[in-house]
Amino acid sequence: MVMDFESSSDAFDPKTLKRSKLVEVEGVPLLGLIAENWGPTWNFKARPDDLLICTYPKAGTTWTQEIVDMIQHGGDPQICARAPIYKRIPFIEMCQPKPIPSGIEQADAMPSPRTLKSHLPVHLLPPSFWEQNCKIIYVARNAKDTAVSYFHFHCMDKWLPEPGNWNQFLDNFLAGKVTWGSWFDHVLGWWEAKDRHHILYLFYEDMKEDPAEEIQKIAQFLGLELPEPVLNRIVQHTMFKNMKANPMANYTTMPTWHMDQAVSPFMRKGIVGDWKKHFLVDQSERLDDIYAHKLGGSSLTFRTQL
Ligand code: A3P
Repeated sequence: MVMDFESSSDAFDPKTLKRSKLVEVEGVPLLGLIAENWGPTWNFKARPDDLLICTYPKAGTTWTQEIVDMIQHGGDPQICARAPIYKRIPFIEMCQPKPIPSGIEQADAMPSPRTLKSHLPVHLLPPSFWEQNCKIIYVARNAKDTAVSYFHFHCMDKWLPEPGNWNQFLDNFLAGKVTWGSWFDHVLGWWEAKDRHHILYLFYEDMKEDPAEEIQKIAQFLGLELPEPVLNRIVQHTMFKNMKANPMANYTTMPTWHMDQAVSPFMRKGIVGDWKKHFLVDQSERLDDIYAHKLGGSSLTFRTQL
């Protein structure tokens, strides 16, 4: 039987929950259970009308998911309240202890057209997505805000590896020794793929600056018209303060043994430039050096403040 995530605690004792170990798949560190289940993930059967939302963690995945769901449902917040975001849009590579259904099990049970989520780097995306020419929305966020957000997320998500202190976490982040690997390789890999495939590449900073414009871009990519009142409703519904208060989007429906929002809320700050409160000058310079080395020769650029 496939059980609901929230009702699984009688079969799975949260007291025995240990933070995951990282196991490499083709050089990319992934959560142990994801690596163990890699065969079925790689062989995942995408359907031609699947839409994939792909990001490096903390780039604004949940925000984009809520926007897409609203666009697909004519801006009706009641339809979008039918279930928590992680049930509306399966996270394809995610595997939790049994009997919690895997992302693939959730996706397989879903009627078409499906919207799916992934954090996989481009070379680990199951080939069926390319074979079926699926539409993909990729969202990128500047490395400094991503690192800060990912650090706080590691503190509150007890399923992720122990982050250590901020300095230790940043060392691992810069070395690509964190879950889903190097931010630099991830954003660049998808950037290079975007001209060869059906990929809409968006930036968190642009979404913050002009949400209506970016929502329109998404709707156009999906081939949908958004009348002005619907667009306005979507902008309102997906504003940070409204998503923070929305239990179907803010992950408060997750058990606290998994995500402890008292440690750090999932909807934490939702701004561009929070990194300035965390990075020391030398940490910022180290990141800038790696950035210049890895991305300097590309046309990909990020804004770290608005
Ligand atoms: P912070 O930790 O910087 O606040 P993801 O969904 O990829 O895990 O990303 C989570 C990050 O996106 C968090 O960043 C969260 O606050 C932010 N976020 C979520 N919804 C948002 C929204 N509607 N507007 C702006 N930021 C949002």
